Amino acid sequence: MRHNVEDDKIVHKPVMWKEVLKFAGKVQEAGDNIFADCTLGEGGHSKLLLETYKDLRIIAFERDPEILEIAKRRLEEYSGRIEFINDNFADIEGYLGTKKQKLSGFLYDFGISSYHFEKSGRGFSFTGNEPLDMRLDKRKDLNAYYIANKYPENKIREIFWEYGEERWAKRIAKIICERRKLKSIETSDELADIVKSAIPAKFRVRNIHPATRVFQAIRIEVNDELNSIRKSLNDAHKYLATGGMIIAISFHSLEDRIVKDQFRRLAKGCVCGLPPQQCMCDGKPLVEILTKKPFTPSEEELEENRRSRSAKLRACRKV
Ligand SMILES: C[S@@+](CC[C@H](N)C(=O)[O-])C[C@H]1O[C@@H](n2cnc3c(N)ncnc32)[C@H](O)[C@@H]1O
Repeated sequence: MRHNVEDDKIVHKPVMWKEVLKFAGKVQEAGDNIFADCTLGEGGHSKLLLETYKDLRIIAFERDPEILEIAKRRLEEYSGRIEFINDNFADIEGYLGTKKQKLSGFLYDFGISSYHFEKSGRGFSFTGNEPLDMRLDKRKDLNAYYIANKYPENKIREIFWEYGEERWAKRIAKIICERRKLKSIETSDELADIVKSAIPAKFRVRNIHPATRVFQAIRIEVNDELNSIRKSLNDAHKYLATGGMIIAISFHSLEDRIVKDQFRRLAKGCVCGLPPQQCMCDGKPLVEILTKKPFTPSEEELEENRRSRSAKLRACRKV
């Protein structure tokens, strides 16, 4: 079947790209001038990096095969300088462990792409009449339908509370379980309406859909997002050259907390594995933290890309 080029219309604007390019410019001398773009998406950041730094090569990870194909076509002219890997960035060890080169940088731009909300048809958006799926990797079994229709009430409550930081978790979980007894919950807008009905009108926040936190929680559970971030950030520094950087962009507090804690741990040379509050390690620092406070998007970026509004960028450099 012929590919329709219209399908490739890029919808995602790379977030904090000026800051990413600036940091990347500082690691040109470190290692073998190879960057790992761990969250390729439609390839926005990678394209800018390849355009700007002519000698740079990229190893790109992307879990979703569908969006990866779009990025491959978009980056065709750079095919000699970019290697594509359709896998979870949690498994960087499996790919980078076999390579001799030392990397100059790692880039993480967590979460999902505008493509997923607007074009994937997998139920990420609460306004669409789409089947409840939310898997980035369709080879995995767990999907959003299963969570909404089969998970026990206490488990639903737990993920809404933990991954959505949703204060109405208990009430929403109860109402979901009542409704699904009458009829299975099939689509994203059905679920969004149920969630909306569970939150009293006076507690809804203007301009934010009441189902935002619940959808975030289900997506995190379906794709085991937080464990992937923990694992990858724990391993990345092993493949980084001295002077090389890890740059991480988060979109909610759960992601940002993991990045902050992991960078602190590396900066302390922690080997105990205890939570940061209990860690007493005083080892040899592995990295230097470059962002005491996270960077946030400029006014200019906020004006032209609303999706960037919750972004936080942190970076550290291997010492
Ligand atoms: C915010 S988008 C990246 C956008 C990209 N930087 C750009 O400028 O076009 C995040 C991408 O990472 C992918 N992703 C999320 N978790 C992943 C994981 N654990 N491993 C690999 N890719 C992942 C998602 O499928 C999505 O395409």
